[in-house]
Amino acid sequence: MQYREFGHSGIKLSRIGLGCFSMSGAYGAADDDESIATIHQAMERGVNLLDSSARYGGGHNHRLIGEAIKGRRDQIFIHSKTGTIRDSNDRSVAEGSGRPDRLRQICEMSLKNLGVDYLDAMCQSRVDPSIPIEESVGAVARLVEEGKVRFIGLSEAAPDTVRRASKVHPIVSLQYEYSLWTRDVEEGHRDACDELGMALMAYAPLGYGFLAGVIDKAGSQSEDDIRGKFPRFYEENFDANRQRVARLESVAADRGTTAAQIAIAWVLAQDDSVFPIPGCKSRKHLDENLDAVDIELTSEDIVRLDEIFPKDAAAGTRYPPGGMQRVNL
Ligand SMILES: NC(=O)c1ccc[n+]([C@@H]2O[C@H](COP(=O)([O-])OP(=O)(O)OC[C@H]3O[C@@H](n4cnc5c(N)ncnc54)[C@H](OP(=O)(O)O)[C@@H]3O)[C@@H](O)[C@H]2O)c1
Repeated sequence: MQYREFGHSGIKLSRIGLGCFSMSGAYGAADDDESIATIHQAMERGVNLLDSSARYGGGHNHRLIGEAIKGRRDQIFIHSKTGTIRDSNDRSVAEGSGRPDRLRQICEMSLKNLGVDYLDAMCQSRVDPSIPIEESVGAVARLVEEGKVRFIGLSEAAPDTVRRASKVHPIVSLQYEYSLWTRDVEEGHRDACDELGMALMAYAPLGYGFLAGVIDKAGSQSEDDIRGKFPRFYEENFDANRQRVARLESVAADRGTTAAQIAIAWVLAQDDSVFPIPGCKSRKHLDENLDAVDIELTSEDIVRLDEIFPKDAAAGTRYPPGGMQRVNL
């Protein structure tokens, strides 16, 4: 594994982190024993960055991680998101999710479910349009003073919001979707991170699995797989996206790797301050993904990939309309 300083934290983290979302059933059924074995294997292979959220599986994800890291707390950096409030249809709602009292409550719940005394990073999942970011970050800064949180992160925040937040308390990282088919962060977010000495955590570097080439039919997701709600997986967009992935697969074949590995290597090649956090729930996928750290893309590879995935190449938005309203605020 390779390590780089995580933003201005002074802490070196593994270049590839482990996203734990799918371990709590986001993309269909998961097996706790295999998930725990996957976290253990990640740690044995040098991964020291785990990403989770208080909301994943309604607390299941935190409990699972707590179980996996028992007795090894000091070996792991837990990047813990707050999640947002859910409406009566279980849809995520940003309004009210950044309230100071809620943030404190979420922190306490996270510590309890994880069975730990502090969160390495507490990250507001979405900017709350009804609460000034200064108030939300100020509330988390108080948790830092109390020793419950070490660093503060933001997710899907707009560059100017990150700048405003940083005036209240240093922000260690911005988590944002970043992959071959989602390059929005190149529109100012990366500049803001560089300016403020922050890490950029690239989430969904595999395009929720699509870029790994494992999804070959529109509508193949089970009822409990949230990807069925993502426009890029809709029937009308599927073939156009699949054709690009087929071309990615030929780049991978030429390099003797898998498409997933090229997708991760591409994110790694962007900058040392970018930390991809591919998600998986099996040791098989984990091993494949971690091996990407040793893949050096050539300039010809990068040019080929840019041709396959120019900016905004993907058919369909990354989230449905409601979700798109809650990003980049
Ligand atoms: N801030 C946010 O709003 C936000 C949103 C989404 C996600 N995240 C975080 O980012 C992490 C990564 O994103 P993600 O998990 O949603 O998407 P992702 O990393 O792009 O893709 C995960 C999907 O790819 C599959 N996969 C992983 N490795 C594979 C391989 N080598 N070959 C074939 N398929 C493979 C996984 O299957 P298996 O699970 O079966 O292994 C899973 O279905 C999450 O776990 C979560 O921690 C943050």
